[in-house]
Amino acid sequence: MAHNHRASPPEPTIVRWSAATPAAATVLDVAAGHGRHAELFADRGCAVTAVDRDAAALRSANDPRIEVIEADLEGAPWPFGDRRWDVVVVTNYLWRPLLGHLAAALSDDGALMYETFMVGNERYGRPRDPDFLLCPGELLAFAEANDLEVVAFSEGEVGDPPRAVRQRLHARRRPVA
Ligand SMILES: C[S@@+](CC[C@H](N)C(=O)[O-])C[C@H]1O[C@@H](n2cnc3c(N)ncnc32)[C@H](O)[C@@H]1O
Repeated sequence: MAHNHRASPPEPTIVRWSAATPAAATVLDVAAGHGRHAELFADRGCAVTAVDRDAAALRSANDPRIEVIEADLEGAPWPFGDRRWDVVVVTNYLWRPLLGHLAAALSDDGALMYETFMVGNERYGRPRDPDFLLCPGELLAFAEANDLEVVAFSEGEVGDPPRAVRQRLHARRRPVA
């Protein structure tokens, strides 16, 4: 089972939020890396698409439950046209021009689960480049600007003693009335 060779476990926040995701859901893991969240949702029975510029890094590349797409999300057009998913998950990745595509890729009632580093993280380690650090409240403002209903939002230091500064958003596209 893919679980046995995970380099790192899924983020606890994503594990918690994923618990309510139905097995029939479709999921897009953006900048999926080794695929820890793609595998988490596949283990729940979901139909998962994992996209990264480095598909070789995806342990899930040979996992028949996961559709692997190799694409450059920054130097090329959004690779999915108007395709939509019930869940879009992004962790430890930020490329601001992509944010609009992520909101548009949510099906009606679809959920965005986003967690990454924010300003202040440079005190503890990488990333330190402001291009890769969210500003305070940035994901909240993004949700509001895209008419997403905020289910949960948090930001601040994590760890005791602190070892990173992170922001987390769980938001839903409002179903069409
Ligand atoms: C820090 S890793 C996070 C991986 C995964 N989301 C996780 O949390 O385990 C960042 C990922 O972004 C991917 N990435 C960076 N630039 C990219 C680009 N231009 N297009 C697609 N993926 C990119 C990298 O290949 C890497 O897998």
